[in-house]
Amino acid sequence: MKLNGNSLDEVLMKETLSDEDIVFLLGLTEPEDCKKLQEAAYKKTTELMGNKVYYRGLIEVSNVCTVDCRYCGIRKDNYGVHRYTLSKEEILEAAMFAAENGYGSICLQAGERNDPKFVSFISDCLREIHRKTVSESLPNGLGITLSLGDQTKEVYEEWAEASGNLRYLARFESSNQELFDFLHNVLHKKSKQLEHRLQCLQWLKECGYQVGTGVMIGIPGQTLEDLCSDIRLYQKLEADMIGMGPYLMSEGGDLKSLGQTENKKLFQLSLNMLAVTRLVMGNINIAAATAMQVLDPQGRETAISYGANVVMPNLTPLQYREGYQLYDKKPGLKDDPETFGLKLEERINSKGREVGWNLSGSSRKWLNRTVLMALIWEAA
Ligand code: 5AD
Repeated sequence: MKLNGNSLDEVLMKETLSDEDIVFLLGLTEPEDCKKLQEAAYKKTTELMGNKVYYRGLIEVSNVCTVDCRYCGIRKDNYGVHRYTLSKEEILEAAMFAAENGYGSICLQAGERNDPKFVSFISDCLREIHRKTVSESLPNGLGITLSLGDQTKEVYEEWAEASGNLRYLARFESSNQELFDFLHNVLHKKSKQLEHRLQCLQWLKECGYQVGTGVMIGIPGQTLEDLCSDIRLYQKLEADMIGMGPYLMSEGGDLKSLGQTENKKLFQLSLNMLAVTRLVMGNINIAAATAMQVLDPQGRETAISYGANVVMPNLTPLQYREGYQLYDKKPGLKDDPETFGLKLEERINSKGREVGWNLSGSSRKWLNRTVLMALIWEAA
């Protein structure tokens, strides 16, 4: 396959990809072409990030949500879901399991809530987790990523003060304004604005977080050009981490009639998006989303071979998992934390990578940025 007389090999050798190159790469479908893209992304990952894949133990803190994102199985108006919130003890237990089993970092995720009770509950948990997980093997305690939606700058500040070195993940879902509005705004319901999400990402940066964002891939109506714009927005935001995965249908969502892209096609598109993001963004952390596993039993490992370097084994207590299904057929509802991390290690090794045990795996882009800032401060 060729683009303007350039072979795929020539495009992949370019230092800087144009929009046209990106759209071309995203659209690859022939197995031998996809393999070339995969090899280029894998090689770049090894060069810039080394050989390690980092574990973030995922703790799904609560499925209570005040928002109605139309694609999401735990949206506020889905009355078919039994709502739960873990106790502080349950959260601490899961965090301690992560620390004691060498995970190095965790991610606390929940539906969006802005009430003061919830905000201080999270602050409390952060303080406790930090205090309890500082040890010889983790001198700075567990790395913690929060994924708790849009908040005020004051709330982001409060959480950042409760525990040092925080990360935050807030996907902007789609840079296409129309698509974003279609997904998030229904008459008479609490709406979401793309501009506000971007403002939140900016605040997070100002509060010192390592900032992650991302999109859903294969949303009905989304084009390759839209995905290219998404990557351009990652660049503009100078994202430290990216978490993205395929758009999947959800029984509890409000978009069922639109269906979902055919599995094989959606899987390859998602892999291409991962690889191109790696090529364009360089030394950031990229997660192998759980949603990839819905499309292919080896989804996560394959994502690693296309440039991902983070996986998020689920540490939510088993009895709650049923309640946190953002999309249908979510895998891992019965994965036992006791054995899962080790089984996953074998699969990661099969891709020539090793698990970064006891490492919090900070984004190298963030480290470069903050070390550079420290040097500038010192010199001033
Ligand atoms: N398909 C794929 N991803 C989804 N998410 C929510 N619902 C779905 C779905 N139906 C993703 C969103 C959100 C993240 C927590 O989960 O991108 O940011």
